[in-house]
Amino acid sequence: MLVTHILGLGMNHHGLGKTNKEVLTMWKYEKKLQYPVNIKNKDLKLAKYIVTQYGGPAGELAAAWQYLDQRYNMPDDRGKALLTDIGTEELAHVEIISTMLYQLMQGATVEELKKAGLGENYAQFGKDLFPSDSFGNPFNMAYIKVSGDYIADIESNMGAEQRARATYEHLMDLTNDPDVLAPLAFLRQREIVHYQRFKELRNYYLEMKKQTTKKQEVQY
Ligand SMILES: [Fe+2]
Repeated sequence: MLVTHILGLGMNHHGLGKTNKEVLTMWKYEKKLQYPVNIKNKDLKLAKYIVTQYGGPAGELAAAWQYLDQRYNMPDDRGKALLTDIGTEELAHVEIISTMLYQLMQGATVEELKKAGLGENYAQFGKDLFPSDSFGNPFNMAYIKVSGDYIADIESNMGAEQRARATYEHLMDLTNDPDVLAPLAFLRQREIVHYQRFKELRNYYLEMKKQTTKKQEVQY
């Protein structure tokens, strides 16, 4: 599981001002998934659907990248901390999705892969996982929404969380396997929590802006 204080990007919860030594010692990787994955039944078609939450437009990789990029533009520590928390948690979700895909595809023959529409994947990548959407389109950096305006970014993140939630619900419609449904339900729930936390942050900043405008009106 990837946790906060990760990546050595030179910023912790409280922004700048830490020495390199302090940043380095904060690296922490917990060697277990945030939610357990134990899928017993091979299901290649389902893997082809679920891969979109790895490398698709509403996928975990896109969300992680988007939030970890945007966090530098948040106006205070509260925003930077939230974007770091959620961004790193999305990376932990990449691990969950990757594990699910690996288990769903484990032991598949080339014939089975071809039959499930994964022959193209096998031709290019063998049995490796490749970040793409359900149609096989490779992960695209254009998915990452960054505007330079923190309110626009946070509202875009609220939309991203809703789209991710909807995608998880669609994926849950596509299977009856309880081993698959349980981690999907967990991931769906996290999107709802993230949406709420982004909404709180958006409201807090709007209120902050309102107060600043009021003060300016008094002074001038
Ligand atoms: Fe999320």
